[in-house]
Amino acid sequence: MWATSFAVLSAAALVSAAPNTPPPQTATVVVETAHGAAYNDRTNRTITVPIGPAYVNHEALGAVSTLYLLGPATATCTPYKAEDGTVNGGLPFYVGHPSLLSTNSVVVGSLVCTIPTPA
Ligand SMILES: *[C@@H]1O[C@H](CO)[C@@H](O)[C@H](O)[C@H]1NC(C)=O
Repeated sequence: MWATSFAVLSAAALVSAAPNTPPPQTATVVVETAHGAAYNDRTNRTITVPIGPAYVNHEALGAVSTLYLLGPATATCTPYKAEDGTVNGGLPFYVGHPSLLSTNSVVVGSLVCTIPTPA
């Protein structure tokens, strides 16, 4: 009886891990904030951004100088001035290509990170 239940549960686990139901994906973004004119007066904060929806984080995105994407390498993120992922707020950024928004710090309303789906 126990063995039968276990087999059923294992089969269910295999189905949910099938490639057509990928796990929720996230991007790792470093927010660099400039606190003053001095080049070394900067701090970094790492945030986790879900792939897909417009991501809002008043605390972390309230003062942004540069945005770096640490991964995944296939993702691209774009900063927006509005919180619903509209009104372009800067260049898209991806791994190895940070987006400099300002030498001071500006407010970013939202981030949208996408990963192209394979054809
Ligand atoms: C913030 O992180 C980026 C990317 O890892 C790095 O290039 C930059 O020097 C860091 N800045 C500070 C102030 O630590």
